[in-house]
Amino acid sequence: MKILGIETSCDETAAAVVEDGVRILSNVVTTSLPLHAQTGGIIPEKAAREQIRYIMPVIDRALKDQKVDTIAVTVGPGLIGSLLVGVESAKTLSYIWKKPLVPVNHLIGHIYANWLHAVNIAFPAIALIVSGGHTDLVLLKDHTKLKWLGGTRDDASGEAFDKIGRLLNLPYPGGPAIEKMALDGDPEAFHFPRPMIDSSDFDFSFSGLKTAVLRETQIIQQLKNTAIADIAASVQQAIIDVLIKKTLRAARIYRARSILLSGGVAANQKLRDSFQSSISDLKSSIKFFVPEKNLCTDNGAMIAAAAFFHYKELPWQKVRANPGLYF
Ligand code: KG4
Ligand code: ZN
Repeated sequence: MKILGIETSCDETAAAVVEDGVRILSNVVTTSLPLHAQTGGIIPEKAAREQIRYIMPVIDRALKDQKVDTIAVTVGPGLIGSLLVGVESAKTLSYIWKKPLVPVNHLIGHIYANWLHAVNIAFPAIALIVSGGHTDLVLLKDHTKLKWLGGTRDDASGEAFDKIGRLLNLPYPGGPAIEKMALDGDPEAFHFPRPMIDSSDFDFSFSGLKTAVLRETQIIQQLKNTAIADIAASVQQAIIDVLIKKTLRAARIYRARSILLSGGVAANQKLRDSFQSSISDLKSSIKFFVPEKNLCTDNGAMIAAAAFFHYKELPWQKVRANPGLYF
């Protein structure tokens, strides 16, 4: 089955065709990120206006004259103006082409980026979603039984990277900028807090980390490049330590056979490597999965993959954008 996946929940305008939930036939992503880099954050109105311009050319390029069986679209969570562009376009195509329409939860989409390229993922699986808006731990007993275990109580991990990047005068988005600076820094130079690392739940909290960095930047009035690199490396390490410890705890308690990392922050090489080595150290049979970097950030392929494994079509009249959608 060939599914056209459409994703416009934030600043990306993306469409892809995926066969049977695992084979990418095309994958087109455009972003209005450079526009937001000037303002240091996403301006929703501007993002949606750009998406209106991009959506049809992006879908055209993804289709490349091929026919699809089904259309899938992100309905939430996300920015309302942005979501509406994708949802209304998908509804129109569903009506004109007389093709089924499958609404997809963006967060479940991120998890299913792991199924692209036909990997064999054993259940139960623990999924960690780390993106700009979310940090969630989810148990998948199988494709149909998903249980949310916990999430952030304040800032998401990507949001923490972005806000701390701003404190350090780094370009937006902060995640990739901090990763780059951290390459020249010492991860042990500053001992930043590891919030909730030993709490008995599966929740996270990252806003205290931002305050701790703010305090350091106030002490070091004139931030030299070495100090920025050390702060970047230390803060990245603090975030990585918390994410790994809590995920491994969930994996142990629920006897997971697979750990699935996903979301924009999963593009971070140090996080990917640290997860891989911590799991290898366990000397258990747990397998670690993480999508290719370009499939960690928002894309249409993950939406098509999620639609295949969670196939629930709705008449187009009933499909609505839902910015506050959760699990
Ligand atoms: O999943 P995503 O593309 O969009 C949302 O659904 O939010 O994630 C974007 C987030 C941003 O906060 C960005 O700073 C972060 O992912 N990010 C990274 C890296 N690449 C993107 N964080 C850390 N290291 C990276 N290499
Ligand atoms: Zn996302």
